[in-house]
Amino acid sequence: MTSSATAGPRGFRGYERRDVPAPDPALTHVGPNTPCGEWLRRSWQPVAMAIELSDLPLPVRILGEDLVVFRDKSGRTGLLHRHCSHRGASLEYGIIMERGIACCYHGWHYDIDGTLIDTPTEPTARIKDRVVHGAYPTFEFAGIVFAYLGPPDLTPPFPEFDTQAIADTEAVPFSLVTPCNWLQVYENTQDPVHVVYLHTRMTGAQFGDASGAEQEIEYRETPIGMVNVQTRVWKGHYWTRVTDSILPNGNQTGAIWEAADHRKVFQRSAMLRWMVPIDDTHTMTIGWRYFRAELDPQGLGDASKVGKQSIDFIGQTEEERSYEDRQRVPGDYEVQVSQRPIALHALENLATSDRGVAMLRRLIRRGVHGLASELTPRSYAPGRDGCIATYCQDTVWPAPAQVGADSLRTFGAAVVETLLATAHDPQESRRATLSTMLSGRFGDGIEPRCAPPLHPDTPDHPATRTGR
Ligand code: FES
Ligand SMILES: [Fe+2]
Repeated sequence: MTSSATAGPRGFRGYERRDVPAPDPALTHVGPNTPCGEWLRRSWQPVAMAIELSDLPLPVRILGEDLVVFRDKSGRTGLLHRHCSHRGASLEYGIIMERGIACCYHGWHYDIDGTLIDTPTEPTARIKDRVVHGAYPTFEFAGIVFAYLGPPDLTPPFPEFDTQAIADTEAVPFSLVTPCNWLQVYENTQDPVHVVYLHTRMTGAQFGDASGAEQEIEYRETPIGMVNVQTRVWKGHYWTRVTDSILPNGNQTGAIWEAADHRKVFQRSAMLRWMVPIDDTHTMTIGWRYFRAELDPQGLGDASKVGKQSIDFIGQTEEERSYEDRQRVPGDYEVQVSQRPIALHALENLATSDRGVAMLRRLIRRGVHGLASELTPRSYAPGRDGCIATYCQDTVWPAPAQVGADSLRTFGAAVVETLLATAHDPQESRRATLSTMLSGRFGDGIEPRCAPPLHPDTPDHPATRTGR
């Protein structure tokens, strides 16, 4: 038998490091009257997929509030406080009416704005004049119900982003619950370093080999939040991916299985989603998965797998695989949930790989602290085509034979600076400007000869390797 008790003086410090500090309340607590919770409430938040609304009410919990969402018989959506204003029975057992919903206990009947329409047990109308039930405004867009839970006089316009208006795109709503704090789900999207390790090198390629190439990364603020800019060389091409954080809690991500093996300019996002806190220790990631031919030339995606608690790529839910599979090939879900119900920032050792996470936390802290001085509704400035410009994209461009880190940084910076400079232009014009800039600064190059795309049935295909 060997003993490890004689190891060096720096080791075996478990006894001294057992204390568990409290989480950072300013960034992680989301209930009513918490600073971060109030900040998140100043923006429209997705609360359910339209497909979840049936002839029965749907109980939801958003930002620590117990609510019920429903579609009344005249087709309007409502989001009400869950407990009836009479004696608190849950409106999840309510009866959906032509107009609004009625509590099953004594029939109090509410409109979608919380107006008490009828109290069948009461002989006079006095109580109706006195009681208004808690309700929030909703807006249904492309199969997702959004709601505004903030102060009514600061209701912002409903935001429409440029990537929601791309032709020949199938936008499939999805909703996934992760049992941990919203911030660790959100900040994962500003941690591009994990793509190389978690998703590629540690247990095999989950999203294609190109993701494992060394990258140069920079982070930039944008008018809507921040981006990370990842630039690699792969198969004779530069590949610059830009990933959006749309504050307070939105994200856009590029093609899930980007092969980066032929020239493309300004290929837009494969997913627009929000990490909506259910409460301090549960998060709903809800948004649209975008399907468009250019995003998935090898046909690895599967719209039929996208929906409630399901999506067509690995590592996003507990249900999709056995515990052993998740231990052998962990994904985003495993790392996020295992950071604890609320990650403890005081125990972390942030390093150079965490510059994006640190910057995102700084921006959130700035937003939370600035809340008191926000006297006008928060809105994003629309671009020339009426939509809000976003920055998420992939550009792949022929590279010279020898490319060093400086060249990668220069290429990535040129791409993101052009994206920022053209934010107010229509999308096609942004693409043309980017193309012209790349030709001028980096040459048109000769398209390198690449292997043809693998068919999904071949053994080396990424989907085959990850068992999906
Ligand atoms: S508790 Fe709802 S009507 Fe009485
Ligand atoms: Fe990830």
